[in-house]
Amino acid sequence: MSRSELHGLTAVVTGGASGIGLATAQLLAARGARVACLDLTPKQVPEPLVGIRADVTDDTEVRAAVEEAARVLGGIDILVNNAGIGAQGTIEDNSDDEWHRVLDVNVVGIVRVTRAALPHLRRSAHAAVVNTCSIAATAGLPQRALYSATKGAVLALTRASAADLVHDGIRVNCVNPGTVDTPWVGRLLDRADDPEAERAALEARQPMGRLVTADEVAAAVAHLASPLAASTTGTDLAVDGGMHGLRIRPRA
Ligand code: NAI
Repeated sequence: MSRSELHGLTAVVTGGASGIGLATAQLLAARGARVACLDLTPKQVPEPLVGIRADVTDDTEVRAAVEEAARVLGGIDILVNNAGIGAQGTIEDNSDDEWHRVLDVNVVGIVRVTRAALPHLRRSAHAAVVNTCSIAATAGLPQRALYSATKGAVLALTRASAADLVHDGIRVNCVNPGTVDTPWVGRLLDRADDPEAERAALEARQPMGRLVTADEVAAAVAHLASPLAASTTGTDLAVDGGMHGLRIRPRA
């Protein structure tokens, strides 16, 4: 990986004001890309990243923000669909409104942003879309019925879009992080009865015995977004400390 690997390319990252999105935007910029972050809180986005306000549930706002990003950056080669929200509970616990709200952000949000970016991606010689999916798409986690359903949809949407866009020269992949140490997980722990015990339980769930870092997820996204991954499409890359693939025995 050279520091100028993405030189001359442009990238849009949704949810780029915090956590995984911010780490990804900063890494893409460090590798030479010009990067715009679409978020509810664009003022949080540090330079040289360009912060642009967009709620991914608002189609008009998304279209305007994507056009603004393309204008400021001079096109769009890379799209990282990362904005997402959580939900806790079993199938009995969330109201219909909650189901619609979380699906609207996590799934239809990706549809809106990708749809708006496609004319620009079609003009790129190195077009790549990377969606932030989750271990929740491939493993059954307790108390995450709604969230997991949205991420399962993101995985299926990634593969279907990859098939639809392969002849346009647009690659579509996703990353499946385990539990990542971001402000999101910080908020989750703050709400727990015993935050320390909750953190220890989340760490123990991953075979490596620790949480994933946002930078580690960013590195996986940057790989999939790079022209170096030109033959990779329709895949999901786990960044989960071994949580999905390994069945280890307890340490003696
Ligand atoms: P975060 O809460 O630190 O950052 C999420 C960002 O998305 C925030 O800047 C927020 O303002 C933005 N956002 C939320 N709703 C939005 C909307 N309607 N329109 C535009 N922007 C919006 O969260 P984190 O942890 O960085 O998560 C990012 C993605 O990673 C999400 O898709 C999440 O599902 C996924 N993920 C997170 C994991 C974790 O353990 N933190 C594990 C697996 C996946």
